[in-house]
Parts: sequence; C-alpha cells; structure tokens
Amino acid sequence: MRSQEVNNKLTQAAELIKDSKHTTAFTGAGISVESGIPPFRGENGLWSKFDPIFLDLGYFFKHPDESWQLIKKIFYDSFAQAEPNAAHYALAQLEQRGLLQAIITQNIDNLHQRAGSKNVIEYHGTTQTLTCTHCGRRYQASTKFLNDLPPKCESCSGLLKPDFVFFGEAIPELAQSRSLQEAEIADVFILIGTTGEVQPASMIPIIAKKNHAKIIEINVEKSNYTDSITDIFLNGKATEIMRNLLAIYLTN
Ligand code: APR
Repeated sequence: MRSQEVNNKLTQAAELIKDSKHTTAFTGAGISVESGIPPFRGENGLWSKFDPIFLDLGYFFKHPDESWQLIKKIFYDSFAQAEPNAAHYALAQLEQRGLLQAIITQNIDNLHQRAGSKNVIEYHGTTQTLTCTHCGRRYQASTKFLNDLPPKCESCSGLLKPDFVFFGEAIPELAQSRSLQEAEIADVFILIGTTGEVQPASMIPIIAKKNHAKIIEINVEKSNYTDSITDIFLNGKATEIMRNLLAIYLTN
C-alpha cells in the first residue's frame, strides 16, 4: 500500500508533466536493472566485478582480444536476453500521449527503442553497430562478427569497435548538441536510475536546472542530484514508480 506522502509526490509529478510544454527523460543504468542488466556502480555493480580498463580506448587498441572477450560477455551475451521493462514501456506511452518529448539515455542497451520510444538520444552511443577503426565502414553487431573475436573489417581487415563510447573517447557530437538543446528548452527533466557520477553526461540535468527546468527524480536510493537539484524525489524502483505515474494519466 502506498503512503499518502508517496501518493502526493506522484500526483505533484504527474501535474508538473501534464502542465509542461517540453518534458525530457534522462535515464541511466538503473532503468534497465529490472530487465536483468546490472548497474555499473553500487551493489552487484559491473565495476565491482570487472576493472573498467578494458573499455579504455588505449587499452582496447593494445589488447583487442582481451577487451573484446569482456565486451562480448558483458554487453552482447548478457544484454541479448534483456527485454524492455514497464519503465521503458511507460516512457514510450508518455511520448505517444505527447507528455514526453525526448529521452536522453546513458544506456547502450537499445531497450528504449525496443519499447517503442521514438526520440531517443544515445549519449554514450549504442551496442547495435560496429565501426572499422581503420576505414570507418559500419556493420550491424551481428553474431557473424561476434563469433570470431576480435572482429575484423570485411573491406580492409581493420579492427572493429562497438559504437558505444569508451573511457577517453569523445561523446558523439550530435548526441551532445541535441542533449544540450534539451537542457536549454525543457520545463521538466525526469531523471531515472542514474548516480550522476560520470561526466560530461552528468552535467546535462544540472544545465537543465540552471535553465529553470523542474527536476523529478526516480531512484531506489539518493544520487548526486537528490539533495542538490531534485525538486520531487520518487524513491522506489523505476518499474513501480513509472507504472503508478502512467496510471494517473490512464485513469484521469
Ligand atoms: N530503479 C531505479 N533506480 C535504480 C534501480 C531501479 N530498479 N536499480 C538501481 N538504480 C539506481 C542506483 O541507485 C544508481 O543510482 O541506478 C543507478 C545506477 O548507477 P550507475 O550504475 O552509476 O549507472 P549510471 O548513472 O547510468 O552510470 C553512468 O557510467 O560507467 C559509465 O557509461 C557508463 O553510462 C554509464 C555511466
């Protein structure tokens, strides 16, 4: 049973979103945890099990075999079983109802798109495609390439790299410019499942706040944002909170 206080906060959040001209969601690994994809930090976090060095660009080029073994195990084999969850679907529903204009995601699991969201800005790129580091030719990340590691380009035999952002790698320009534009124009930002630990992604909600956006945050625990920029903190699992939030629109 939800407490009255939680109900009030949910209603407040729903009102803010309904009255907003432009609402943007900013999602992190936490929105995909209930799809079976572990977060990077905190309990059961990936970085408590693996040294992130294998995603350092310099290390990848020096040790492509080792990096690719881990990349395949973590970002392809395990992601392959993941399905969008109620939180991903709820965001897609909000977009369809004109209540959400864009999603900026730090995630590379493609679950927002698979849930039906159309306007998704992939701030850290995607696992869906690979690019040749020599000639730039792009490929779908199919099993054909992932069964023979490290994958090589069919045109020039160059090393293929997944199209997600490694440590030490620049943010895709279009993703950066579109995200900054969202932070300029949004009246409401909905932060879901992110610690706000990683720059420059973590600056986006802060810029939105500076531009007078109202910040709604959904997380199972406090983040770097909660006591600094968050206006309404909905403390709970993304699927539960988003299901209850969407229900307010479906019943009104
Ligand atoms: N519902 C809501 N929030 C959740 C849930 C859940 N079911 N489970 C975990 N969380 C929250 C955690 O409390 C934490 O705040 O999700 C967040 C996960 O934090 P991180 O693992 O740091 O993920 P994220 O903030 O997306 O990391 C940013 O770091 O390593 C890089 O590129 C990687 O995009 C990633 C970036």
